[in-house]
Amino acid sequence: MNLVVLTGAGVSAESGIPTFRGKEGLWKNFKPEELATPEAFRKNPKLVWEWYDWRRQLISKAQPNKAHKLLAQIDAVIITQNVDGLHQRAGAKKVIELHGNIWRVRCTSCGKEYENYEVPLREIPPKCKFCNGLLRPAVVWFGESLPMDALEEAERLAKSCEVFLVVGTSGVVYPAGLLPFVAKQHGAKVVEINPESTPISEIADIVIREKATVGVEKFIQTMLNL
Ligand code: NAD
Ligand code: APR
Repeated sequence: MNLVVLTGAGVSAESGIPTFRGKEGLWKNFKPEELATPEAFRKNPKLVWEWYDWRRQLISKAQPNKAHKLLAQIDAVIITQNVDGLHQRAGAKKVIELHGNIWRVRCTSCGKEYENYEVPLREIPPKCKFCNGLLRPAVVWFGESLPMDALEEAERLAKSCEVFLVVGTSGVVYPAGLLPFVAKQHGAKVVEINPESTPISEIADIVIREKATVGVEKFIQTMLNL
């Protein structure tokens, strides 16, 4: 079976990483949606970096959970909105990152992009190792475009798969949230794993109302007969 998986913050929730929306998704009195913007960074790079430093610390201590591991074991192609790298740490070989990666930084002066694993950061906001310019996280913020290559490949995969499995996303951030609809329009069966209802539930052929770890196991047992 040609299977493609789309994941969101929910797949990492059981690894202890908070989701963005919902009760437990808030940090201090800020909405992540209001911190993850170019405007917020221009206004207060220190505050934005403090949030990313906090998230980097959480992610560095987190372990991939059973959902990440099972998806890696079945060798699924994974399109993810997550920036945490947990799919790769679980051994997944083919991961398309639509929103970048929290371990990469990009210089706002010289434009160089590179990895930075310093946890916690010694200096906030951090400076470029090449030109001492202001660094930003190499992630996609609201109002910014997604990396073209990643988006095109994700769309191609959505259009050509037989089963499109969606795990732990609210589906409200575009264009990632459109991919299940694209897959459905092109004839795929859409399966959703999420303890809560989302706009994707309405078009899903099968809905598994479970957390990711339980849901992915059920999916593999029933759909793949493993
Ligand atoms: P959006 O939420 O629609 O995102 C725009 C693009 O950025 C999408 O492609 C999205 O996938 C991506 N993106 C950016 N940061 C992201 C992140 N951290 N995580 C995931 N995806 C990310 O943003 P928008 O177009 O700025 O609109 C937000 C809301 O505000 C919408 O409801 C819009 O109607 C409203 N609004 C926006 C503007 C504007 O100028 N952007 C103006 C008025 C109202
Ligand atoms: N298992 C499965 N799903 C879960 C679990 C769990 N253990 N816990 C929560 N969920 C579900 C929630 O019900 C919700 O539908 O995961 C979803 C998480 O939604 P969001 O917090 O909106 O995360 P996501 O869809 O990944 O957000 C998209 O928004 O701010 C940006 O960059 C951010 O990539 C992110 C994008």
